[in-house]
Amino acid sequence: MQTNQKITKIPLLAFSDSDMALKQMVKITEDLKRTYQARDNTLLAVNEAHHQVLMRLAIAAEYRDEDTGVHIIRLGYMAEKLSTLLGESEEYAFMMRLAAPMHDVGKIGIPDSILKKPGKLDVNEREVMNTHAEIGFNILANSNVPLFKLAATIALSHHEKYDGTGYPNQLAGNDIPLAGRIVAIIDYFDALTMDRCYRQTFSDDIAIKMVLEQSGTHFDPNLVDLFIENIDTFIKLRQKINENPLTYNQLINYSLEIFM
Ligand SMILES: [Fe+2]
Repeated sequence: MQTNQKITKIPLLAFSDSDMALKQMVKITEDLKRTYQARDNTLLAVNEAHHQVLMRLAIAAEYRDEDTGVHIIRLGYMAEKLSTLLGESEEYAFMMRLAAPMHDVGKIGIPDSILKKPGKLDVNEREVMNTHAEIGFNILANSNVPLFKLAATIALSHHEKYDGTGYPNQLAGNDIPLAGRIVAIIDYFDALTMDRCYRQTFSDDIAIKMVLEQSGTHFDPNLVDLFIENIDTFIKLRQKINENPLTYNQLINYSLEIFM
């Protein structure tokens, strides 16, 4: 059967044409690669800048409360470790490493007369001191950056208690964000066992007992169980960090593996 359809002939490329086309394609691919590389580098730089800002905030807060510098580094790694043991994603655990050190950033808004008072705080002073949770939240909140959001959540919720008697919102049980429940335990344990100018250090055994005594009241009982089951790992981690004090920049870049 005959048709009137015309057959379009595709001209064959001469060797030199196809060679040129290939060269052009390679050039375009390389240009694209460079563009993507530049974009990735910019994104990495922005990401790093977010981390740096958070760390600088933490440093600013710690300048007010001098003897806690290494405490917040330990806190970062311990928060990461507990998150990993819980089965949380690697990404979440890493964000916990960077966000947990910011938990007390609100102390920047507490007067020295209260923050550095050597003795016990009276009721009014305690009330002012407790506002550091909300101050921290206000400093960190209203950002779309996930790391800032997590840091804000921790700042606001790390003094809530599992039985609902904490502050500032008297949240109870799982209404307390997981990140706040994690930081509550490790902050308490690490603060008890570190040297502070105003009180003696507790032994690990006593600190463990004190954590266990408050399981289900102050702390999430499931997290306490997991923390105590792995206490040797946390003590080893603490020891390694004390032996190799890190800078804040190193906290961003060094994974847990270098300690374990
Ligand atoms: Fe706090």
